[in-house]
Amino acid sequence: MCGIVGYVGKNNNSLHVLIEGLKSLEYRGYDSAGVAINDNGKIKIIKSEGNISKLENKLNMDIKSNLGIGHTRWATHGKPCENNSHPHRVGKITLVHNGIIENYEKIKKYLIDCGYIFKTDTDTEIACALIDKIYNETNDKLLTMKKANEIIEGSFAFGIIFDDDMENIYTMRKDSPLIIALGENENYIASDVPAILKFTNKYILLEKDEYAIINEKEVKVYDNNLKEIEKQVNTYEGSMEVAMKNGYEHFMLKEINDEPKVILDTYKQFVNNDLSEIIDNMPDLSKYDNIDIVACGSAYHAGLVGKSLIEEYANIPVNVELASEYRYKKNFCNEKTLTILVSQSGETADTLAALRKAKNSNTDTLGIINVVSSSIARESDNVLYIKAGAEISVATTKAYSAQVLMLSLIAINKSIINGNISKDEAKDLLKDLKKLPDDIAGIIDRKEEFDKVAEQIYDNDDVFFLGRGIDYALSMEGSLKLKEISYIHSEAYAAGELKHGTISLIETKTPVIAIVTDDKIDEKTVSNIKEVKARGADVTLITTEELNKKYDKSDFYDRKIVVPSTNRFFQPLLTILPLQLLSYEVAKLRGESIDQPRNLAKSVTVE
Ligand code: F6R
Repeated sequence: MCGIVGYVGKNNNSLHVLIEGLKSLEYRGYDSAGVAINDNGKIKIIKSEGNISKLENKLNMDIKSNLGIGHTRWATHGKPCENNSHPHRVGKITLVHNGIIENYEKIKKYLIDCGYIFKTDTDTEIACALIDKIYNETNDKLLTMKKANEIIEGSFAFGIIFDDDMENIYTMRKDSPLIIALGENENYIASDVPAILKFTNKYILLEKDEYAIINEKEVKVYDNNLKEIEKQVNTYEGSMEVAMKNGYEHFMLKEINDEPKVILDTYKQFVNNDLSEIIDNMPDLSKYDNIDIVACGSAYHAGLVGKSLIEEYANIPVNVELASEYRYKKNFCNEKTLTILVSQSGETADTLAALRKAKNSNTDTLGIINVVSSSIARESDNVLYIKAGAEISVATTKAYSAQVLMLSLIAINKSIINGNISKDEAKDLLKDLKKLPDDIAGIIDRKEEFDKVAEQIYDNDDVFFLGRGIDYALSMEGSLKLKEISYIHSEAYAAGELKHGTISLIETKTPVIAIVTDDKIDEKTVSNIKEVKARGADVTLITTEELNKKYDKSDFYDRKIVVPSTNRFFQPLLTILPLQLLSYEVAKLRGESIDQPRNLAKSVTVE
């Protein structure tokens, strides 16, 4: 949510680095963007509404500059427009900000009384003025940052330029992520690693309440007592290719095509010859007799799949909560509860707050995370990394699937511990697990078949998704995927719930996508599908090869998509693919901005 990048270096390359960095960070927000550079001792600010290419068109890329900061915005305070975009400048301070300042109105009042005049609707301009005011009083840059940190409430990471020092970038953070990357005779700041991957893979993580001064030769980091501290230098393991489109038209399509490898890379961390290896290679789950899963959006939907599997096979209760609700409600966890936080970015503000709440209740916490060393990964008692690599498209696909796989593996682990999976069953499961990447690749190869279904539904205003049990959880993800990138209104319904009101919305030709993969309740769902069909719905059935034998000649659907059958633990990983590819194609047929849907951002670091 908002991207920050900064450069200071001998090669006077700041504009080039800022633009490249902002392009890689665009998934964090793309309402507006801007840069501030040292232009012969004076700050030059160029901003633009819209995406980075609009900003780039306004720049003279020949300008040489040793130092600059840039920002791509996802608006929180004040509408997206050039005036509200960053960098902001007040007095001697130029600043970019990621996060939300919660007490900005109080600070604003105080600063207006002190004579400051504000030109924008943002909370960031207030922070800029506050830092200017404190600096005028202290004339000490580090102390200024510390004092500002003591006053500002909320989440933030700042990149700051002081007018009287064009050799150093200053930075500080509270809850919003920030890294300092290390190059040769040049150093960088960024809100995420992809921003600097073209230039270096060495970086330092700035922690909460730390401050840093960065110039072309060195980086100095200070703790909250302003004592200089040693920081570990990390090397980013992932390759640059992961963060590139590799010839695909959109990141979303590329990332769906990454799924076979992501699934393989994720499970091979734990299992090789024998499924029971999972018990030794994962944190010990034996002591828990109930589980809370807390997450947002698609990660929450992955949690719902996990709930179905863990409850059914491990035979323990699982409570799945939206992080934004969990953090403000009464929870009933105890020392036998494991609280699992699921997050691709590891920075989602509500999930992070939920983690901290769980830790305060003395329950053990386990993060299922993609981004290594992200806040939730670092603060959880234990972490399991999905191996999705950089996910750039705002709509998650490969990370969702890897989250589902990880929860399936947890369900298997706990089922083995509880004696609910026999040795023979374990052998069969392992065979299916090893087959998964090929099965997934086989479904992706059938894209054209799903494109034809997309042609049938793309021109509609409303789409309904139906399913029961695990298929309902998948319906919710299918529905979210469709609406977030194609802007078609869509709803997911538990099939049996329709006739309690919603069926009144079904008219002739209303598209209904019905998912039937569970042979324990298929007949129940089919009778619900018949109810919508009888009211004129246009039904696309998604089912398995096994169930297709039963329904091959039926007339309760207009078309069908048949996915290979596998065991119940892994079936969702096959069933979700046509839904992901369908959403992609529908959005494409409607001409929408697939990787950067309106109003959204990849990493939601504000509440
Ligand atoms: C939807 C989507 C979001 C995220 C949600 C949680 O396609 O990507 O719903 O799943 O914002 O994000 P993470 O997993 O980073 O916590």
